[in-house]
Amino acid sequence: MYTQALNIKDMAAAAEDSAFDARFQSRVDAEEKIEPNDWMPDAYRRTLVRQIAQHAHSEIVGMLPEGNWITRAPSLKRKAALLAKVQDEGGHGAYLYAAAETLGVSREDLVEQLLDGKQKYSSIFNYPTLSWADIGIIGWLVDGAAIMNQIPLCRCSYGPYARAMIRICKEESFHQRQGYEIMVTLCRDGTPEQKAMAQDALNRWWWPVLMMFGPSDKDSQHTDKSMRWKIKRFTNDDLRQKFIDATVPQGQYLGLTFPDPAMKHNDRTGHWEHGEIDWSEFKRVVAGDGPCNRQRMKQRRDANENGAWVREAALAFAQKRRARAEAAARIAAE
Ligand SMILES: [Fe+2]
Ligand SMILES: [Fe+2]
Repeated sequence: MYTQALNIKDMAAAAEDSAFDARFQSRVDAEEKIEPNDWMPDAYRRTLVRQIAQHAHSEIVGMLPEGNWITRAPSLKRKAALLAKVQDEGGHGAYLYAAAETLGVSREDLVEQLLDGKQKYSSIFNYPTLSWADIGIIGWLVDGAAIMNQIPLCRCSYGPYARAMIRICKEESFHQRQGYEIMVTLCRDGTPEQKAMAQDALNRWWWPVLMMFGPSDKDSQHTDKSMRWKIKRFTNDDLRQKFIDATVPQGQYLGLTFPDPAMKHNDRTGHWEHGEIDWSEFKRVVAGDGPCNRQRMKQRRDANENGAWVREAALAFAQKRRARAEAAARIAAE
């Protein structure tokens, strides 16, 4: 009896859910933005939390490889630009954590999941920055790849994420230009040693940058649903191809050689074709065994512990202020 009653209730709930689901999908199809208080399928919410958190973590961890060069920038101008850029990345992390919080999770919880290794950040930030040319390469290629990925996110179906991306993309385009300008200086105006340094940086970063777009479409777990929900607008392989097509002429202008003997222009399709990506390296780095994974996580853990007193002090100050304001309001009311 009891189970039967429960089954009927479950069926009613399921029917209601599928009606909500259909209405949700028709709003998405009509390019309406989904806002925090709107009904959304649980899986949509979970996908967004996972994606936005991973994005936020990447911005914050991404500050580390470049932060490494602030004290060693070759001029005051370069130092000021790099400092501003690294600070922007911290800001991006802050907007994105705020966007994730509109989905009912807390920033503290997300940071904890990063530190516990339950949530990921972009594999690219597990590679070391060995020379000043790496700073040029990161701006040119890593920020360049990020822009390619993120411009379509400005039209993502989830309102708070889409709006955060608009400002982020404007700043990323400044990052890309400052990186490319470093490359131009090294490659076109620099000494042979500086040009060799730039070539070495390209050799080391090119393949990891291509991996930033994620697994090939045939192996990507999340693409179909994300496309249907209009979180994603292009597949990983499409974005990777767009990036390569935009980047190769820039590299040619610098007089650099891409470390891919199979790379060639297909005159029929108009695309640059590339060689096989070593996905075993990608898997290894994502699983935690890249050149700098342990170092990056240690730095984030230390920063979290060393910053605890600041968060506690800010909280205590806010509580004190609130208590004071409440007391003043009480006296005024008497
Ligand atoms: Fe950023
Ligand atoms: Fe950036």
